[in-house]
Amino acid sequence: MVAAAVADVVVAVAVAANSTSPGSMSDHQGHQAAEAYVSLPSYGVGLGFRPVHREELFSHRKSIDFLEIIADHYFDPSPPKQAELELLQANFPLIPHGLALSIGSAEGIDARYLSKFRSIVEQVRPAWCSDHIAFTRAGGIDIGHLTPVPKSRASLDVIRDNLRRVQDVIHVPIILENITESIRYPEDEFSDAEFLGRICDDNQVGLLLDVTNLYINSVNHRFDPLEVVQRLPRDRIVQLHFVGGRFEEGLWVDSHDCATQDEIWQLLEAVLAMISVKGIILERDERIPPLAELIPELDRARSIFLASKS
Ligand SMILES: [Fe+2]
Repeated sequence: MVAAAVADVVVAVAVAANSTSPGSMSDHQGHQAAEAYVSLPSYGVGLGFRPVHREELFSHRKSIDFLEIIADHYFDPSPPKQAELELLQANFPLIPHGLALSIGSAEGIDARYLSKFRSIVEQVRPAWCSDHIAFTRAGGIDIGHLTPVPKSRASLDVIRDNLRRVQDVIHVPIILENITESIRYPEDEFSDAEFLGRICDDNQVGLLLDVTNLYINSVNHRFDPLEVVQRLPRDRIVQLHFVGGRFEEGLWVDSHDCATQDEIWQLLEAVLAMISVKGIILERDERIPPLAELIPELDRARSIFLASKS
C-alpha cells in the first residue's frame, strides 16, 4: 500500500511536469545510437550471479558465457565482496545490473546512488550496463520495489532528463528493462510498444527485454506479446532476461522462483526468431537451486540463441 500511495504522488508530480520540453534525438544521433548497440559484443547465454553459486560457477564454466551482477551488491564493498567482484571479473565478462537508478523518478537521479553505480562501471568496464524502466524512489522515500511509471509524455520527459544525467557520468551504453505491472495507470497515453519505442527514439538507450515480464504483462493485461516485439526498434534490443513465474489467483506473478515454464520458452523462441540479441540471462532469485539444476535451462536457451543466429 505504501508503494501505491507513493505511486499516486509520483503520478501527480509526473503529470504536473512540463510535457512540452524539447530534447528528442536528431535522426543522425538516433542512427549513431542504433549503430552503437549493433556493434556491441555478442556474449551468448549467462546467469544472473547469486553468491550461493560462487563455488559452483567454475564446475560449469562452459555453460556460462557471461554473468550479470547486481551492481548494488558491490556498492562500498566489504573486502570479501570486493574479492568476489575481482574473482568474477577475472573469469567472466560481467554486466552490472542496477536496481535503483530510479530512472522514472520525477525528482531526478540520486547523486549518491549514481556515484556508486559509476564506481562499479569504472571498475568492471563492461560492454554495457542496465537498470529498469521504473521508479524506486519518490518524495525522498526509497520504496524498495520496482514501480511502473505511467506511459505518458510527462514520464518520457522525466526519463529523458534522468538518462542525460546518468549518461553524463556513465560512459558505456545503458539498456533499460521492461518490468511487470500489477496496475495500469489511467494517465497512460501510450501502449507498451509505443512507450518503449519512444524511450529509444528520445534517448541513446537500448532495451533489456525481459521475456518473462513481457509474457506476464501480456496475460495479465491481455495483449499480444509478439505484436509488442514486432513494433519495437529491433536494433536497440540488446539483451533478454528469462525465468519462471507463478500463476496465482488468476494472475501471473514474476516470482523468479521456479523453472521456466513452457509458455515462456515458447515466447523466448518466438522473440529470438524475430530479433537478434547480444546476450540472454537466466535470473533466478528465490528458491535458488544448486547451479547444476539451472544448467539445462542455460543450455536450452543457448540452443535457441544459436539457432536464431544461423
Ligand atoms: Fe528481469
